[in-house]
Amino acid sequence: MTLQGKVAIVTGASRGIGKAIALDLARRGAAVVVNYNTSEAAAREVVQAITDAGGKAIAVKADVSRMDEAANLVKAALDAFSRLDILVNNAGTTRDTLLMTMSEADWDTVINADLKSVFNCCKAAVRPMIRARAGRIINISSVVGLAGQGGQTNYAAAKAGVIGFTKSLAKELGSRNITVNAVAPGFIPTALTEVLSEEQKQAVLRATPLGRFGTPEEVAYAVSFLASDEAAFITGAVLTVDGGLVMH
Ligand SMILES: NC(=O)c1ccc[n+]([C@@H]2O[C@H](COP(=O)([O-])OP(=O)(O)OC[C@H]3O[C@@H](n4cnc5c(N)ncnc54)[C@H](OP(=O)(O)O)[C@@H]3O)[C@@H](O)[C@H]2O)c1
Repeated sequence: MTLQGKVAIVTGASRGIGKAIALDLARRGAAVVVNYNTSEAAAREVVQAITDAGGKAIAVKADVSRMDEAANLVKAALDAFSRLDILVNNAGTTRDTLLMTMSEADWDTVINADLKSVFNCCKAAVRPMIRARAGRIINISSVVGLAGQGGQTNYAAAKAGVIGFTKSLAKELGSRNITVNAVAPGFIPTALTEVLSEEQKQAVLRATPLGRFGTPEEVAYAVSFLASDEAAFITGAVLTVDGGLVMH
């Protein structure tokens, strides 16, 4: 599976799953735009790791929950590499709490970072992809968007929204040879999941047929496959990478 000659944007690629996706796309030959919002030093380290290995990458700061910044991110990719083949909408965050105690800010922050960001980046990226009559869009959802989770009404709504968005855009862009798919990870230890209690983690583990947590790299392999020429006939799909936690 080669991605030689392709150009990819990965949002939220400074750490966690996004970092693993950026490194794996680059390893397969893609030039990668490493987006970050606050973690500049970490994003520069990802770029360094890619260039040290002989690949091409740049770091671009953009808060993708903001439409103007998402547009600037796509423009930076086109300015640097003159094309855009792959968009991975990975940036996301959580503000977990029960609905009774959830503030409007908790709701808005998650909906904007996890769902509106996908709209913002797709809106900016589809124009060059339509012109090229080719493209791959991969949106990182979550098993929580499929199954729901107490304490995460905001996050579940955003991630379920990403799935509906993915299927709709897949229908809009199929005739332009652009595929749009979602990847729904299960429990992957990162900064995002550090906040969960040991009891919550053990409950997830017990419910996972493969009996372990996943790794960021295992999510990245699924993304690289969906980004490849080999996945040309797959669109509107939701690929769970969750050790069997949620079978849908
Ligand atoms: N870990 C899991 O178990 C799991 C399971 C299912 C789905 N997911 C999804 O996978 C994705 C990555 O999660 P993760 O676990 O790797 O989380 P993480 O370690 O917390 O990393 C989140 C990344 O998103 C970036 N980000 C957040 N808000 C942003 C914004 N407004 N604009 C640009 N970048 C932003 C952060 O950038 P800065 O640090 O630069 O601010 C960081 O690079 C998320 O969409 C998450 O919902 C994770």
